[in-house]
This record gives sequence, C-alpha cells and structure tokens, in this order.
Amino acid sequence: MTDTAGATELQAFPGVRAAGCPFDPPPGLRALREEGPLARVRLWDGSTPWLVTRYAEQRALLADRRVSADVTRPGYPRQVPIGGGFASFILMDDPEHARLRRMVQAPFTIRRVETMRPAVQRIVDELIDDLLAGPRPVDLVEAFALPVPSLVICELLGVPYADHAFFQDASKTVIRRDAPPEERGAAAARLTDYLDGLVGDKLARPSDDLLSRLTARVESGELTRREAAQMGVLLLIAGHETTANMIALGTLVLLRNPGELALLRDGGDPELVAGAVEELLRHLTITHSGRRRVALEDIEIGGQVIRAGEGIILPNDIANRDPDAFPDPDRLDVRRDARRHIAFGFGVHQCLGQSLARMELQVVYGTLYRRVPTLRLAADLGDVPFKHDGQVYGVYELPVTW
Ligand code: HEM
Repeated sequence: MTDTAGATELQAFPGVRAAGCPFDPPPGLRALREEGPLARVRLWDGSTPWLVTRYAEQRALLADRRVSADVTRPGYPRQVPIGGGFASFILMDDPEHARLRRMVQAPFTIRRVETMRPAVQRIVDELIDDLLAGPRPVDLVEAFALPVPSLVICELLGVPYADHAFFQDASKTVIRRDAPPEERGAAAARLTDYLDGLVGDKLARPSDDLLSRLTARVESGELTRREAAQMGVLLLIAGHETTANMIALGTLVLLRNPGELALLRDGGDPELVAGAVEELLRHLTITHSGRRRVALEDIEIGGQVIRAGEGIILPNDIANRDPDAFPDPDRLDVRRDARRHIAFGFGVHQCLGQSLARMELQVVYGTLYRRVPTLRLAADLGDVPFKHDGQVYGVYELPVTW
C-alpha cells in the first residue's frame, strides 16, 4: 500500500490560477512538478489519486492502454460530485468509445476542415465589420469570441443559431465546476432534450448536416436516439466553449505582450500565424482541470507504482510549461515551435475537433489584429472576470476599444 497520509491537499478545484498571473498554471502544481513526476493529492471527496506532473510521463500515460477514461469506474477522480454533467464517448473506453467517435469524425479531418476556411473567413470578416460599425467599448466575448465558433458548429451540426442564447447559457452551467450538482444536471438535461428534439426534426426532414447523419444511424438501429442526442450535446459544447475561450483569452494575453501581437498584426505570414496558434494553445492550455483517468493495471512510473483502481489526474497545463519539453516555458514566444504541446490531450481521446479549432483560430488571429490594429483593453486587468470556476479556462467578459 502506498502511504496516502502525506497527500497534498488540492484546492477545491486543482486548476485555479493565481490572481496575479492569470495566464500561468497554479503555483502549487508547479511546485509539485519540481519534486518529482508523481504526487499524491487529496480531493474534495477525501480520495487520494495520483497527480502526474511532467510532460513525458503525461504523454506516456495518456497513450497507455492500461488507463481508463470511464467515469463510472470506482477510483475515477471526479472533479465534482456526481449528478449532472454530460456523458458521451469522451468518458468511455474502447471499443465503445471508438465505435461512437468513428460515427462523427468525417467532418473533422484536415481536408474537410480546409473546405470550410473561406466560410469561416467570411464569418470573421462580417463580425469585424459589425464590431467596427458598432459602439465602443464592446465586450469582445459577446460580440466576437462566442459567435465565431458557435456559428461554425451550428452550421456543421445542423443546430439553429437562433437558439444560441439558450445553448450558450446552458453550456456555461454544465461546465461550471462550482455549480450545485442539481443545477448542472438540470442544464445538461435541458441540452439533451433540446438535441433530442432536433434529432426528431431531422428524422422527419433530414438535411446535409452531422445531426442528420447521426439520425440516419438511429433509423438503422446502430445508435439509440438518446446516444445521438448525447453526442450532439458533447459536440455542441466542445465545439463552441473551448474555441471561444481561446479567442478571448488569446487576445488578452497578446494585448499584454505587444511585441508578440505586433508580429502577428504586421507579419501577415500564414505560417507565423499557424505557429502562434500552437504557442497560444500551449501557453494558455485552457482545459485547466486536467485529464482524468483510472488505472486498470499496476503501472510503474519513476520507481513508484500506480495500483490498479487508483485515480490519475494529468494537468496538461503544467505539462505544457515543463522546461524539459519547452525551453524557457513561461515565455510567450509566437515564433517558437510549440507543435508538440498537449493542449488537445494525447492518445485515443485526443481532441476530435482540433483541426477545426486550429483553422478557426488561424483565421481569427490572422484577421482581427490586422483589421483592428489599435485594439486595446478597456478595463484594468484586475477587473477582468476570469473563469477560475470553469472546467475550461477563459474570461467571462473582455471589454475592448480601439
Ligand atoms: C481550442 C479549442 C479546443 C481545445 C483546447 C480542446 C481540448 C480538448 C482536450 C484536451 C480533449 C481531450 C480530453 C481527454 O483526454 O479527456 C478534447 C477532446 C474532445 N474535443 Fe476538443 N478542444 C477544443 C476544440 C474542440 C472543438 C472545436 C470540437 C468540435 C466539436 C471538439 C470536440 C472534442 C471531442 C468530441 C472530444 C472527445 C474526443 C474523444 O474522447 O475521443 N473540441 N478536446
């Protein structure tokens, strides 16, 4: 038995970033990384899973078939009390995970995503036209960061964008770590019912979108209607919340680093923009709650053994700041080669939407600062509301002017 008495007490939410340096991973987690690749931590429910602190060990474990992402297994390190949240293949193991993932992967390949680039460029240009014609200061989250990925995922899935206020609000509650479980559960149920209704509409009137293709699988008996609705919820939430946070938080960190922003604004080189996207993904690693797994067998790491049934937390934000993987890791350097980051996870659950997210961010970062060259923050940094309570990090509002 491993001694758990000395386990480090984690804050209620392990990913909470310090107020003074809101772009950096929590100092407590960084301190653990210096002590070794594995640490015992104590969670809100008294359980004592392992925390994997370093890049190399995180990548190895995320690709290891001896770990499970199945949230229903005993020992899984739950982030929040049971009840609420949403279930789909992100919290399942193969072969069921692979079976469901395969059903929705076609529109997310690099080739298919590239065909959407002109439409995304149009969306971004039109939103910037509206921004420039409207009043200032303006909240960049509401006016730009949320609409871009929401419009794109709605088009891809076949969800009416007119319902955006409803699904953006419910999604926000589902991924709030401090929301009471019953509130989170109610928001997840509202979203699932909504998607179930859309599946019903597509059964009657199919069209050329991903929900219609899922509906066809319901008709052929490959999928239950509930599974289709749950997959729709996963794709809708993952498709807009994450990218929206990268747009707003990425803009904020660039405004704080004017030299890096100038390179993007004045360079106009698509390769530089693509590299900057990778660096911002690495630097900010907005999925700051850590990947969660449970060991299926005993696994030895650096002379210590994670026993079968023990929980494992892999905070990819500290891995992406590991000096052994990225020299001078705390410096934002848009010209660095950051492509090996694990902001999209690693292994079988690696982000399904990563090519789409990359393309959207390339269009946004390559356009916004060029078209609004005097963009600046219209508030003190201390007054910007950060999503310390979100499963995905970002800002709730970003007042800007130009
Ligand atoms: C900047 C934007 C994004 C970031 C940082 C991000 C991050 C991640 C991460 C870290 C995972 C791995 C979860 C795990 O290992 O437990 C993941 C999985 C996933 N992401 Fe993303 N994501 C982004 C955008 C998107 C978009 C646009 C979609 C489109 C629908 C999407 C859909 C998914 C899905 C379906 C999974 C589950 C994959 C699986 O379990 O096989 N994500 N994402």
